[in-house]
Amino acid sequence: MATADEEEGKVVMVRIGSYGGKARVLLVGEESAAEETMLLWGFQQPTLSKPNAFVSQSSLQLRLDACGHSLSILQSPSSLGTPGVTGAVMWDSGVVLAKFLEHAVDSGMLLLQGKKVVELGSGCGLVGCVAALLGGQVILTDMPDRLRLLKKNVEANLKHGNVRGSATVMELLWGDDPDQELIEQKPDYVLGSDVVYSEEAVADLVATLLQLCGSETTIFLSGELRNDAILEYFLEVAMKSFTVGRVDQTQWHPDYCSSRVVLYVLVKK
Ligand SMILES: C[S@@+](CC[C@H](N)C(=O)[O-])C[C@H]1O[C@@H](n2cnc3c(N)ncnc32)[C@H](O)[C@@H]1O
Repeated sequence: MATADEEEGKVVMVRIGSYGGKARVLLVGEESAAEETMLLWGFQQPTLSKPNAFVSQSSLQLRLDACGHSLSILQSPSSLGTPGVTGAVMWDSGVVLAKFLEHAVDSGMLLLQGKKVVELGSGCGLVGCVAALLGGQVILTDMPDRLRLLKKNVEANLKHGNVRGSATVMELLWGDDPDQELIEQKPDYVLGSDVVYSEEAVADLVATLLQLCGSETTIFLSGELRNDAILEYFLEVAMKSFTVGRVDQTQWHPDYCSSRVVLYVLVKK
């Protein structure tokens, strides 16, 4: 549910779902998705910034402090050039989403404690691990061949006794029927970082979001501003079924902002 409470010209700031901050809602209209991508590329000028400010993709691990823990996320740089393989190394959008969640919880804008959280396309698993440290009952999902590294990272980073939530790993291919465990009780939150990167996958990704989400589910998606056509296509498809709002960088973790990254919050219409 989105409640409009501020309108300035065409910029409407609303609270979307269970997120306490306001997001810049994308108004439904023929040109809306195109306007959004023009705005992002015009103002943020993503191609002028460093490809990755927070991760080194040639390292075997990414170290990050979050929620009072020192996380060490294993990467597989050798898979980087393998055709069809993604999720073996981190990108900034994963770090931005993970640190946004921490910041939003710390500032009282978000409550993950005891909430059911499903992460899509978890890759190395940073976002889902942080959600579990913040108290979520998290199910991290990905394609079958991604699960080995994902499980390793979950086990290595959440083995301490003082994890507030929990984390399990499960296979989920977008477009396939989700396991009952994922949907018998609809998730409170669905998370995804850098999951909008291929035009072919957009329809399946949105189909999965529709299957997973109930009217009370809040989705956070962060993305890399790599390709305006793919993002525009995703927004066009998503806006048919979801209210989509962009979360301004002023609400992100102040030390983890990047002009190459965008963050959306969505709820089912
Ligand atoms: C670019 S990676 C992002 C990984 C991770 N979220 C991050 O930020 O580092 C995209 C992820 O989506 C997963 N993925 C791609 N297509 C998928 C599909 N059809 N079903 C399930 N997962 C998929 C990939 O395996 C990969 O882990």
